[in-house]
Amino acid sequence: MTVLLPSTDLDRAADALRRGHPVGMPTETVYGLAANALDPEAVARVFAAKERPSHDPLIVHISPSLVGPDPLQGLMDRGIIGALGEDARPPATLLTALWPGPLTLILPRGPRIPAAVSSGLDTVGVRMPAHPTAQALIDAADLPLVAPSANRFGRISPTTAAAVMTELGGRIPFVVDGGPCEIGVESTVLAVRQDGHTTLLRPGAITAEMLHAHLGVAPLAPTRSKGPQQAPGQLDSHYAPRTPLVLVDDFRGAPWDAIHQRANRLALLSWSPSPDHPDALCLCPDGDLSTAARRLFQCMRTLDETGAEMIVAERCPHLQGLGTAIRDRMQRASAETPALD
Ligand code: TXA
Ligand code: MG
Repeated sequence: MTVLLPSTDLDRAADALRRGHPVGMPTETVYGLAANALDPEAVARVFAAKERPSHDPLIVHISPSLVGPDPLQGLMDRGIIGALGEDARPPATLLTALWPGPLTLILPRGPRIPAAVSSGLDTVGVRMPAHPTAQALIDAADLPLVAPSANRFGRISPTTAAAVMTELGGRIPFVVDGGPCEIGVESTVLAVRQDGHTTLLRPGAITAEMLHAHLGVAPLAPTRSKGPQQAPGQLDSHYAPRTPLVLVDDFRGAPWDAIHQRANRLALLSWSPSPDHPDALCLCPDGDLSTAARRLFQCMRTLDETGAEMIVAERCPHLQGLGTAIRDRMQRASAETPALD
């Protein structure tokens, strides 16, 4: 049985974490499945509960008080990351400006982080969430916590405690309810190489444009090789509803004949309000990209539960800023559905 806890009652959750059990935890991006990052058995329980393949590494969550005023030094002192050469240090201003927040940095893995956290890689992802409940839970447990998104592998990331219950109820002892997530898409993942070059592995609310401004150069795009993966999480199909999802630029020019040949019962997700399709859910009713990001996964979940044979969604029309992350998640959600002719 899984118990839903209010965010004012963290003692039992912190105790479970210290005893090696995974706990559903709110963050400002999506809900995570938290566990003691220093304990290989706790980490193994996270992979098992999510049915996540062992080759997809986890990221480690820290709080300001866990690492102290100089986060990189605190991470090194605690053995979470390895020693960083001068060139490999992200600029202090980057961390001051963007941590706590939705930015995960890939850095050398430190001696206290079990290899299983990083799927055997010599790097580790580290993030300092801004959500007060996530920080309070890290502090109450007094531990760095792994926290992948709290969904079963390949499914839609949960942005409410109820969605975590749907995904993992019965598999974990507790879910802490911190309300709906503010941002709604997972953190930006930035790899920092030893020579100081950076690669943007996953777009998120910390946009490429913001990173460029802080780094002085644009982060590189990942190379999408099929061999040993640079970014293990870059599987094409991810964040996917069970219902096949197809993307169209605009409902008005959509190939409806081809769509109706595939499916009778459709569920529609429009970008902006669509008078021609009053039954469509609307992702971006106010024209604000952050509204669309916040609503995206919950809308997909809602449409997935309608019993429709196919979800037809309008693409995010914005190619920059947060639009990149929204387009990326929608693209992945549609990756397993054969394209319309
Ligand atoms: O916003 C988030 O980051 C959420 C919340 C809960 O914090 N967490 C999250 O975790 O999205 P997860 O495991 O679902 O996604 C982490 C991504 C995966 O794509 C993983 O492959 C990648 O980061 N990653 C983790 N460690 C890595 C590493 N050492 N090198 C390259 N990619 C890594
Ligand atoms: Mg995930």
